[in-house]
Amino acid sequence: MATGEIAVLFVCLGNICRSPTAHGVFEKLLAEQGLDSCIRVDSAGTGDWHLGEEPDPRTIVAGQRRGYDLSQLRARQVGADDFSRFDYILAMDTRNLENLQALRPPSFTGHLGLFLAFAPGAQEEVPDPYAGGTEGFEQVIDMVEEAGEGLLSHLRTRLSNLPASS
Ligand code: 4NP
Repeated sequence: MATGEIAVLFVCLGNICRSPTAHGVFEKLLAEQGLDSCIRVDSAGTGDWHLGEEPDPRTIVAGQRRGYDLSQLRARQVGADDFSRFDYILAMDTRNLENLQALRPPSFTGHLGLFLAFAPGAQEEVPDPYAGGTEGFEQVIDMVEEAGEGLLSHLRTRLSNLPASS
């Protein structure tokens, strides 16, 4: 990581529904706030079924309806090296988190946890919309927008304590 940069990785199962949505939504929020040069964002899946694919068409359409272009994202699988490249590794559900905990090297000093821990509500997980209808994809956007605001508030406190970029 470059000095003065915080790197955030969103993780779900397939990297075609929830984590690319979180990726695109949070990246847009950062750009709107002028913070895209200080916070780097990526997403990945714990599974390898969709490597190199664009997001699920329902993810792309739901994003378009809400002003997010998710069509350029491509699925990849999370790996042990991600723990040296990211400060925050945020899982969409507890199964994703358990899989990440199994990969976590002892040297990782960053934050590994559930993304929705940054949201004000009581819900812990972003439900997997893959087997359901379009409303599930819209719900994913609602949830990640809310959690993204909470995450950004948290990161702002860290950014104010970081040394200036070199
Ligand atoms: P995601 O959703 O983890 O939010 O990307 C899924 C995508 C694909 C599959 C399951 C969940 N799948 O079984 O292929």
